[in-house]
Amino acid sequence: MLITVDRVAKTIAVIGAGKIGSAIIKSLNECCREVRIIATGRRNETLENARSLGAEVTKDNREAVRSADLVILSVKPHHFPVVIKQVGSNAWGGKIVVSVMAGIKLATLESVIPNAEVYRAMTNVNALVRKASTAIATLNSNSEGRLVVEDLFKCLGNVYWVPEEYLDIWTGLVGSGPAFIAEIIDALVLGAVASGMPRDIAYKAILDVLEGTAVLLKNVDSHPAVIRDEVTTPAGTTIRGLMVMEEEGVKSALMKTVEAAYKRSAEIGNEIDLRIRKELNIL
Ligand SMILES: NC(=O)c1ccc[n+]([C@@H]2O[C@H](COP(=O)([O-])OP(=O)(O)OC[C@H]3O[C@@H](n4cnc5c(N)ncnc54)[C@H](OP(=O)(O)O)[C@@H]3O)[C@@H](O)[C@H]2O)c1
Repeated sequence: MLITVDRVAKTIAVIGAGKIGSAIIKSLNECCREVRIIATGRRNETLENARSLGAEVTKDNREAVRSADLVILSVKPHHFPVVIKQVGSNAWGGKIVVSVMAGIKLATLESVIPNAEVYRAMTNVNALVRKASTAIATLNSNSEGRLVVEDLFKCLGNVYWVPEEYLDIWTGLVGSGPAFIAEIIDALVLGAVASGMPRDIAYKAILDVLEGTAVLLKNVDSHPAVIRDEVTTPAGTTIRGLMVMEEEGVKSALMKTVEAAYKRSAEIGNEIDLRIRKELNIL
């Protein structure tokens, strides 16, 4: 599965080895042993951390890009113009370049990264345990680079190709998703505590329920309402709980939660993209 990464991308540069860059380095080292990883950062602490994860390190972004077959851009979006100025325009030729930066559009990336094959990916914090869901978009429809980029993100978890227009919704649903799920878990645990159960037992139990329900839903491959109805006994416990969820508007609140996160992602994306286009003088 990962042979394409080892074969095509013998050297990978991670520009900005922060939280997400480190998660990528860690996963890559676990699943592509033949790959050389060069990580960059500004602070010694960032470089030390990347070194401890098995990467070679440097503060020289231009040299890192020049040495690599594949480049991952994982700085914060507002640091991207500096990286572009540091690397210059001649170093990108023939490389596969993947941005995991939120908001910066493919058209913008392509206009400042000449002669490269450019991809935009959005992953989530679950990459730390190799259970991320990553969406990837590109304007390159047929190339070996697609397979390499797909394999690379498979190291982090599941991969989905999507049109770029879905990336903001992905950010609202999947990028922010772990926070929403964590909040729901906390609320369910507090419900058990209110009913008299110690927190630690309730917490372990609900994590099991969550994991088990996800596996069950994946295996039965039917609408979640089918499982809900199967466990809803007439005049039983579940229907009483479901009535409260309905009265309190839980479903509607969750729908609006994702929609609000999506709208904010689109808003931030437009602001950032506009700012970067101005800073880098792109019309
Ligand atoms: N965190 C997530 O769950 C997540 C998920 C999906 C996408 N993203 C995206 O991933 C990107 C990084 O997010 P993050 O949470 O990982 O941020 P982060 O922890 O702040 O990491 C960014 C890293 O970039 C480095 N950096 C800044 N300027 C640099 C430069 N000129 N040259 C080299 N390195 C430089 C910083 O190094 P120093 O610390 O040494 O200054 C820092 O380690 C963002 O664009 C974000 O939108 C994040």
